[in-house]
Amino acid sequence: MYDFKIAAADSATLYRDLASALEGLVAGEPDAIANMANAAALIWETLPDLNWAGFYRNVGGELVLGPFQGRPACIRIKFGEGVCGAAAATLRPQRVEDVNAFPGHIACDAASASELVVPIVRDGQLLAVLDLDSPTPGRFSEEDEAGCVKLAEILAGAF
Ligand code: SME
Repeated sequence: MYDFKIAAADSATLYRDLASALEGLVAGEPDAIANMANAAALIWETLPDLNWAGFYRNVGGELVLGPFQGRPACIRIKFGEGVCGAAAATLRPQRVEDVNAFPGHIACDAASASELVVPIVRDGQLLAVLDLDSPTPGRFSEEDEAGCVKLAEILAGAF
């Protein structure tokens, strides 16, 4: 049984604890779907103020919905479309304070106000993107971005 209860006083400690919990969850398991499923659940349980947390996988140059927590979402996203597609096309994290101001944002859930998308890259190849949505505008800070980049690095080594 896994029973992670991560409640840190500050963001750096929270993400350090989250990273070590994720390393423990994926250790010795090569199945990408299983690891994404546990990662989505861990992130959802740990980070406050989210309405969606999950993955889109790179399937032949198109993003396809992977394991997630939250409401049912769009299934396929082309590279370059929306926030996830921008992360996929540029291989750069996308931190969007107001999704309604982002050109081409794909509104899967009208409750989403801000979004953080981090590409998961190994050897220069996009494997997937980690996508977090929040109902609060400007929810994601630079520390959230840095913390999620670290989570993406752990997952890139686990897939
Ligand atoms: N809003 C995203 C689409 C995915 S959902 O948020 C789950 C985007 O613009 O890429």
